[in-house]
Amino acid sequence: MSLRYDYTNLLHSNAIPCAPREEDLAQHETACKAAHHAILSDRKNDVLGFYDLPDQDTSRIKQPLARLHDRFDEMLVLGIGGSALGNRALYTALRTAKGLEPKLHVCDNVDPLMLKAILDDANLDRTLVNVITKSGTTAETMSVFLIVLDIMQQRFPADYQQRVIVTTDAEKGFLRQVVRQGDYTDFLVPDNVGGRFSVLTDVGLVSSAFAGLDIDALLAGAAAMRTRCECDDIWRNPAYLNGLLHYLHMRQGKNISVMMPYANALYDMADWYRQLWAESLGKRHTVDGREVFVGQTPVKALGTTDQHSQVQLYTEGPNDKVHTFLVVEDFGFDYTIPNLFPERDEVNYLGGQPLSHLLNIEALATEMALTRAGRPNCTIIFPTLDEYHLGEMIFLYEVQTVFTGKLLGVNPLDQPGVEAGKVATYGMMGKQGFDEQRREADSYIEQKASRGKVL
Ligand code: PA5
Repeated sequence: MSLRYDYTNLLHSNAIPCAPREEDLAQHETACKAAHHAILSDRKNDVLGFYDLPDQDTSRIKQPLARLHDRFDEMLVLGIGGSALGNRALYTALRTAKGLEPKLHVCDNVDPLMLKAILDDANLDRTLVNVITKSGTTAETMSVFLIVLDIMQQRFPADYQQRVIVTTDAEKGFLRQVVRQGDYTDFLVPDNVGGRFSVLTDVGLVSSAFAGLDIDALLAGAAAMRTRCECDDIWRNPAYLNGLLHYLHMRQGKNISVMMPYANALYDMADWYRQLWAESLGKRHTVDGREVFVGQTPVKALGTTDQHSQVQLYTEGPNDKVHTFLVVEDFGFDYTIPNLFPERDEVNYLGGQPLSHLLNIEALATEMALTRAGRPNCTIIFPTLDEYHLGEMIFLYEVQTVFTGKLLGVNPLDQPGVEAGKVATYGMMGKQGFDEQRREADSYIEQKASRGKVL
C-alpha cells in the first residue's frame, strides 16, 4: 500500500475558515501548469537529476560494499547538510524496526565533544570511514576528515587508505584530487543533483546499504512516487497539491511549517525535511531579481513528547503555522499495556491496548484539537515503516519543494544566503585568497567591541 496524504484540514471548513477553498486552488491552475512545464523543461535540460535516481543500478554500490563488509561492521560518515542529514534519517528510521546490525555514526559538526563521543563509541579497528562532500572542500567536513584521517594513519599505517571511502564529485574539488593520488574506494555525487536533493545518490545509498537497508526497495518507493508526481493534475499529484496548499497558506501568513512525526523513528526525517524546505525556499530574490524575502520556517516536533512542550503554543499561540503529522499505521512491533490495576479507573482504561494504538489516538486527538482551534494541518500516513515508504516520502518532498519554488518564483536549487558566512569563516580562519573577508571580519569585531554590550 502507498503512502497516503490526508489534506482535509488544509482546505476551508467552518473550523478552518482561513484555509483556501477548492475554487481558490482552481484559480491557480495556470500557475501550476506553468510550474509543471518549468519542471519538465528543467528535467530536459538535466538540471533536476534527482528525478532519474530511482532508475539507477545499485550493483555499482553493492559490489564494492560486499568486499568491505568482511572487514568492517561500523561506518563513520563525515559530512554536513545534504551530505549527512539523509544518511542519519534513513538509518534512524529503520535501525530499531529492522534491528540493523552494522552501526552507523554520523559526524555532521565540528564540535570536539561530538567527535570525541563518536570516536569513543566506534570500534575503529572495524570502522569504515565515509567522507561525503559534493564540493570536496566544505570546511566542517574537511576539518573533521583531516582529524580522523590523521588518527587512522597513525593507528593503521599500512592500510589506512583502505579504511576510508570517499563520496564526492567526479571531477571537481580537493577531495577528488585526494582520491586520484591515493588508494581510496570512491563513490560519486552527480553534478546535476544538489546537496539537499542527494539522499538517493551514493551520498545516502552507500551508508544505507552498508547498514543493511534494502536500497532497491527505497528506490522502488521513490519510483512509485515519481509516477504519482508526474501528473499535471494537482488533484492527483500529492507533491503538487501539498506544495500549492502550503504556498496558499504561506500567502495567508502561515510562515512556519511544523513537521511532527508520531514516531521517534521518523524524527530525523523531519530534520532532513527542515533543510530541504528551508534552504530551497528561503530566498531574498525571485529568479527575475525581485526582492521578495519568502520562505516558510520549518520546525520539527515529536508526538507525543512535544504535546507536553509545544502543542499549547500550536493550539493557542499565533495562528501562523501549517502542521504536518507523520503517522505510522503498523509499527511491525508492539507492546500491550498490561492491566495491572483493574480496579483503578486512573489507568485501567489503558489496560489491554496496544501502545501504538495510544500513540495514533494521540495523533488524532492533537489533529482534532488543532483543527478545532482553526489551525491548518495535514497528515502523511505510512502504512508501515520500511524502505519503500521512506523512498516515497523522500521523492514526494523533493518534488513538492521544487514545485513550490516555482510557484514562489525562486530558485529552489541555490543557497546564496549561506555564502556570506562561509567566506567570512574562510577569512577568519586564514584561508588563502580571503584577505578581504578577514579585514571585514576584523572591522566587524572591532566595531562590535566598541559598542561593548556584554554582561
Ligand atoms: O544543499 C546543499 O547544497 C548544501 O546544504 C550542502 O549539502 C552542504 O553545504 C554540504 O555541502 P558539500 O556536500 O559540498 O560538503
